[in-house]
Amino acid sequence: MSTDRDPATILARTGVGADSAYGAVMPPIYTSSTFIHPGLDNKNPYDYARTRCPNRDTLARMLAELEGGAATHVVNSGMAAITLVLHLLKPDDLLLAPYDCYGRAYALMRALAEKGHFRLEFLDTYDTDAMRAALATQKPRMLFVESPSNPVMRVADIPALVPAAKAVGTLVVCDTTFMTPLRLRPLEHGADIALCSTTKYMNGHSDVVGGAVTCADMALWEELDFWANSLGLSADAHSCHMTLRGARTLPLRLAKAEDNAMAVARFLDAHPAVLATHYPGLEDHPHHARAKAQQSGFGAIVSFAVAPESVQKVAEGTRLFALAQSLGGVESLINHPASMTHFAMGPEAQARAGVTRGLLRLSVGIEAAQDLIADLEQALALCCTAA
Ligand SMILES: Cc1ncc(COP(=O)(O)O)c(C=O)c1O
Repeated sequence: MSTDRDPATILARTGVGADSAYGAVMPPIYTSSTFIHPGLDNKNPYDYARTRCPNRDTLARMLAELEGGAATHVVNSGMAAITLVLHLLKPDDLLLAPYDCYGRAYALMRALAEKGHFRLEFLDTYDTDAMRAALATQKPRMLFVESPSNPVMRVADIPALVPAAKAVGTLVVCDTTFMTPLRLRPLEHGADIALCSTTKYMNGHSDVVGGAVTCADMALWEELDFWANSLGLSADAHSCHMTLRGARTLPLRLAKAEDNAMAVARFLDAHPAVLATHYPGLEDHPHHARAKAQQSGFGAIVSFAVAPESVQKVAEGTRLFALAQSLGGVESLINHPASMTHFAMGPEAQARAGVTRGLLRLSVGIEAAQDLIADLEQALALCCTAA
């Protein structure tokens, strides 16, 4: 869906004033699981809520317009979004995916490949030359890219990878959960599918789990429609309504969280107890130039490493940053990837992906920056105290 509307306008206005029953300004929630057909020869386009539902359609329309895609499937989690796109693959098809993608995505791909659903190779999707060579020689059916990567914030060169993939007929799927379409629109670079966990920034209030798959063309969307309906992956009306409601303020939330993230990253980078800071907004991040070229912001996830023997003190020592999974909400969170989000990868894959015992990931929220920095300062001071 190509559009000239600014994302802020799309987010504020989708579904507004569309209620013909009572003239409600905001779209009502249609919780009905089934819909009446006027007659056998006069069917209602809404039939059964797993297949189609008005609130899901409204959210899907908004996401498709934001991504610049043909149409979107709104599903019940980010993992459901990944499950859905993996159903495009047949047993002989090869999937290339990053060895440091989100831990549960990694585990799902590996488990499905072991069952013979497709062939799989994990590689370094951030090494563009190696990727060009792998695409040209292996001609995979699908390239799965996660950018920036979770949790060490490496950035894949999407404008370079897409033409290399297209040249050999490879479908390109980009997980841009950390960015949202406000900061990165892979379909504009020629990717086939943009997917995200709407649980994160899109909803933004840590109270709904959801996902979305936006397709560049209708043929792909229709192929996925069979699977979304048959596997029962579609999101329910209430969660679609909540996500639409949360998304309306995304531009404001994201801008504030990004400002805070930059301030936090600069603080961490200068702190003597911090061994490494991973934030693409820092000028010395290895993918800073790449991120600047393809994104319109650096996001609000910052990861950093402390000495392994100090990690528990820091993770348990913050007062504002709550020790919890997930990211992208208004509130700041701290996560220990090795034992939490990336535990499912197993130790070998963790080591390859840079998920060390001392690594911590922050989802920087929209609180006042000075309060967040003061919180980290007191938690990092614990590194210097005896056990
Ligand atoms: C990059 C990325 N993709 C997908 C997911 C899965 O999303 P969900 O938790 O909504 O299933 C996550 C979850 O953290 C993620 O970080």
